Amino acid sequence: MKILIACYSYSGNTLKVVEELKKLLNADLTEIKTVKDRWYLFKVWDSIRGNQVPIKSCINDLRNYDTLIVCCPIWAGRTPAAINEYLSLIKNAKDSNFAVLVTAGSDKKQKATIYIREYLSGQGMNFLGQILILAEDVKKDNFQDKLDIFMKRFQNDLEN
Ligand SMILES: Cc1cc2nc3c(=O)[nH]c(=O)nc-3n(C[C@H](O)[C@H](O)[C@H](O)COP(=O)(O)O)c2cc1C
Repeated sequence: MKILIACYSYSGNTLKVVEELKKLLNADLTEIKTVKDRWYLFKVWDSIRGNQVPIKSCINDLRNYDTLIVCCPIWAGRTPAAINEYLSLIKNAKDSNFAVLVTAGSDKKQKATIYIREYLSGQGMNFLGQILILAEDVKKDNFQDKLDIFMKRFQNDLEN
């Protein structure tokens, strides 16, 4: 099974977890980067509005992959605009699997994972699982247990 991890990380927390996940799953990683940075309040505004912002070229064609793992921070309880843009650019997604990994300051109710899940399910993709890791746990390197549980979602597929 070939896995693509697509990661947007603004301040490095999500990327830190993703680098570990990439090793564990022997996956490819494509980093989502915005063309321009935006002020904090615009980031929040864009997330609340579900806006998209231009991103640099990255792997968005899933032709050669069985599974996509979308990874990002939670902003304003929602997805960053860069992720909204990435999702809209995904090609050849039908019948592939997907999972979602988010990092956040708190584990309060949020809409980011719901949005990604609904969007990709709507593209004909199959949901495997999701995980939320707290920023403070990322900083303390305290996320291995959660990652192991998340990894189990892929185990059946990895064995095939
Ligand atoms: C613009 C902005 C909005 C944020 N909004 C939320 C939020 O609504 N809920 C939350 O739990 N954390 C929020 N955070 C915290 C981030 O989700 C958290 O620090 C995350 O781990 C950052 O990931 P990164 O380092 O990969 O960018 C926000 C951070 C930023 C910069």
